[in-house]
Amino acid sequence: MAAAATVIPDGRRWCKGASPASSPVTTAIFLFFFVIVVGVLVSARWITTTSHLPITNLDEWRTKPAILTATHTTSIPATPTPPPPPRPAYSISCSAPPLARDPAVPSNISQTLYLALSSNKTCASVPEPQPLPSTTTNSSCPGYFRFIHEDLHPWRAAGGITRAMLDSARATANFRLVVLRGRAYVERIAPAFQTRDLFTIWGVLQLLRRYPGRVPDLELMFDCVDWPVVRADQYQGENTTFMPPLFRYCGDNETLDVVFPDWSFWGWPEINIKPWDAVQKDLYIGNKRVKWVDREPYAYWKGNPDVAAKRQELVKCNVSSKQEWNARIYKQDWIKESKAGYKQSDLSRQCTHRYKIYIEGSAWSVSEKYILACDSMTLVVTPKYYDFFSRVLMPIQHYWPVRDDNKCSSIKHAVDWGNSNKQKARVIFRPLSALRN
Ligand SMILES: *[C@@H]1O[C@H](CO)[C@@H](O)[C@H](O)[C@H]1NC(C)=O
Ligand SMILES: *[C@@H]1O[C@H](CO)[C@@H](O)[C@H](O)[C@H]1NC(C)=O
Ligand SMILES: *[C@@H]1O[C@H](CO)[C@@H](O)[C@H](O)[C@H]1NC(C)=O
Ligand SMILES: *[C@@H]1O[C@H](CO)[C@@H](O)[C@H](O)[C@H]1NC(C)=O
Ligand SMILES: *[C@@H]1O[C@H](CO)[C@@H](O)[C@H](O)[C@H]1NC(C)=O
Ligand SMILES: *[C@@H]1O[C@H](CO)[C@@H](O)[C@H](O)[C@H]1NC(C)=O
Repeated sequence: MAAAATVIPDGRRWCKGASPASSPVTTAIFLFFFVIVVGVLVSARWITTTSHLPITNLDEWRTKPAILTATHTTSIPATPTPPPPPRPAYSISCSAPPLARDPAVPSNISQTLYLALSSNKTCASVPEPQPLPSTTTNSSCPGYFRFIHEDLHPWRAAGGITRAMLDSARATANFRLVVLRGRAYVERIAPAFQTRDLFTIWGVLQLLRRYPGRVPDLELMFDCVDWPVVRADQYQGENTTFMPPLFRYCGDNETLDVVFPDWSFWGWPEINIKPWDAVQKDLYIGNKRVKWVDREPYAYWKGNPDVAAKRQELVKCNVSSKQEWNARIYKQDWIKESKAGYKQSDLSRQCTHRYKIYIEGSAWSVSEKYILACDSMTLVVTPKYYDFFSRVLMPIQHYWPVRDDNKCSSIKHAVDWGNSNKQKARVIFRPLSALRN
């Protein structure tokens, strides 16, 4: 759902002051986060490289559902540092879960993983991985890493993360994740919407397999709902003793939720969205199909306008016999799409306009990365939320900011400018450059 390019990297304060010695938990979470972002980034290298993870191909996924579990042992050229360690096979070791197949779960989603997560047994990945020599290099560390420090700063300032803090995060969490010596343990606290939790955890399992021995011990609480809930103004003074370190998919300038890549990086089968590895290959081909100058000289948006008032306002900018704001706005009807085999929602066929609009929905929108990846000039309606990677994007530099209070004429102005400054429009206001490095 929604989306959030964000921009102003900070409404929040980010004091570099004397930081107290971090607690082991803080350090562990930081390290984990560091590693997972590396993991995601390796697979999200935005079109420039091909990826090595073979299992994310959707066709394979369709024909071999079990592949979604972590039991599949493929040889993955993982870390760039030779020599490669012996590659352990992980499996969810819940033998014969006594649960019936849940008809609500699409058959092509891993039932094994689903059942494992639904059962009360302890599910671990086995066997224990070999620890790797630490050959950490930060040469390929993208800019958005710095926000990890920012997200965790409030706990650093409070002297670390305590058990009481973690427990207070349970109130809204969907699951609790523990990684202990390379094994993942999951406690499902409350059901998540669709299969968000499943795919998020699947991402963690891939991480464990890709970086055996490198993911430190950690424990975290994860909330799969769209909106951030940890209001900074409620955790001042004495209240910091139970300030919840809660992971979710987006944040804003008034909340302290720790931002984590959203589930759709690993797939969103309910609306036929493939894992990012596969999508970026499609988009790469889609981008090649029409050169930028040959694309439609208008600003394109397609989505569900019903989730937010600002989207309904955007629809009013659509072309008609009476007006031309240079916007081409289309409504996404997921029910109709699902019946028609998602032919009209193919993301790689939506890179056909010189300008693409990004607008938030009920919170940040998953659509953001697909819009940015078209490599068109991107018009971003002033966002409120940010997700884990978009905070590095700066208005003017990486995208054209569209005024929320004056959308139509702001869009028209942007498109007119781009069409009369094609050379510039091709190279600036395009966010990919920022995300590639
Ligand atoms: C957060 O951003 C909004 C605009 O989206 C602004 O009105 C508000 O003052 C900001 N709050 C803080 C604490 O910076
Ligand atoms: C898991 O445990 C809880 C309480 O401990 C129980 O209510 C629930 O039925 C159990 N679920 C399964 C699937 O066994
Ligand atoms: C990593 O980055 C830090 C700070 O930018 C730098 O001091 C250090 O030398 C770098 N390490 C490597 C291995 O590049
Ligand atoms: C501390 O938390 C309580 C309970 O949530 C809340 O009512 C109170 O306003 C908070 N106080 C501060 C200073 O944040
Ligand atoms: C999953 O299966 C359903 C019905 O079997 C099918 O309609 C849908 O396209 C499949 N989705 C994926 C992502 O394979
Ligand atoms: C916007 O205008 C186009 C062209 O007239 C039309 O095809 C499309 O359905 C309109 N979009 C909406 C959301 O009404």
